[in-house]
Amino acid sequence: MRGLALRPGSRVLGIETSCDETAAAVVVDGARVASSVVSSQVDLHARFGGVVPELASRAHAELLNPVVAEALLEAGCEGRDLAAVACTVGPGLVGALLVGVSAAKAFALAWRLPFVGVNHLEAHLYAAFLEEPDLKPPLVLLLASGGHTLLVAMVDHLRYRLLGATIDDAAGEAFDKVARFLGLPYPGGPAIDRLAMEGDPTAIAFPRAMRDDGYDFSFSGLKTSVLTYVRNHPDVSSADVAASFQEAVVDVLVAKARRAAREVGANGLCLAGGVAANSALRERLLDACISDGLRAFIPSRTMCTDNAAMVAATGWWRLREDGPTPLSVGAQPGLHFPGT
Ligand code: KG4
Ligand code: ZN
Repeated sequence: MRGLALRPGSRVLGIETSCDETAAAVVVDGARVASSVVSSQVDLHARFGGVVPELASRAHAELLNPVVAEALLEAGCEGRDLAAVACTVGPGLVGALLVGVSAAKAFALAWRLPFVGVNHLEAHLYAAFLEEPDLKPPLVLLLASGGHTLLVAMVDHLRYRLLGATIDDAAGEAFDKVARFLGLPYPGGPAIDRLAMEGDPTAIAFPRAMRDDGYDFSFSGLKTSVLTYVRNHPDVSSADVAASFQEAVVDVLVAKARRAAREVGANGLCLAGGVAANSALRERLLDACISDGLRAFIPSRTMCTDNAAMVAATGWWRLREDGPTPLSVGAQPGLHFPGT
């Protein structure tokens, strides 16, 4: 498929409904955020301790139109001022994705605009470009979210080589499961992050699976090890458990990312995904980059978690490279990182 020439000043509407955030944004030239509205469903799912797919789809259906209207209003534009409509097509929850994809196609048809389907994982990477316009490949990307943990070499814009991925739980999933076990509220990542600040990260030596071995990750053993430790030591301080668990995850993530950057000859390391909001991970990755002479690209916390500005920006890049996505393309819940 042929790329589309986009005029300077092109505004792309982005839509994101892959999990539990209903989001819409307008981004100009793939780089400047004119508006970014995120309506979180956290309160809706909190009492169930995790995302309930059917509830998420229903909430997206209710919230999407007002969220899109607000994004357009904040950006000071209407449908006819846009160059394209971009929407996450996967990976994610199928029902949740379908709400966004159907709405995005309807907007594109009604406003006679090109539709562009966006890979949510690639969008997490482009979140970093929104805040660091001079970010230049070759880079190594560490993407850690609720569903994925990936190490990717970004050879050039839109060109990637997968280095490694988790063989069991994603890093965010491990945070969420350990938090639940410790009786912390959902979502678990931010709760562990907060509690860990009061604990000693060296209190318990939890295992670092495959730390110095290849680029794949495994967090399932660590999770089991935390559960077993707490059962055998009922009086242990939860803050020490949280801090020591977090330390084990961060240690493995940072060790692999810096080794990958060295072996790939990358000029920088880029963090992405919800777990990239973790305080210890941000601090340790920055320290590693400073001592290795690498540039560190660490997006703001709001840009790390799900939003639609990253979707609009990716849509702009993809539209120029591949052209519009056929309307026959549906939701793709199991989509992989592009080219991997
Ligand atoms: O990227 P994201 O917002 O949604 C997915 O695409 O999965 O990531 C959500 C994940 C959840 O597992 C959440 O617990 C984790 O990111 N997370 C964190 C922090 N903030 C969010 N994990 C550790 N520390 C945080 N501060
Ligand atoms: Zn995400």
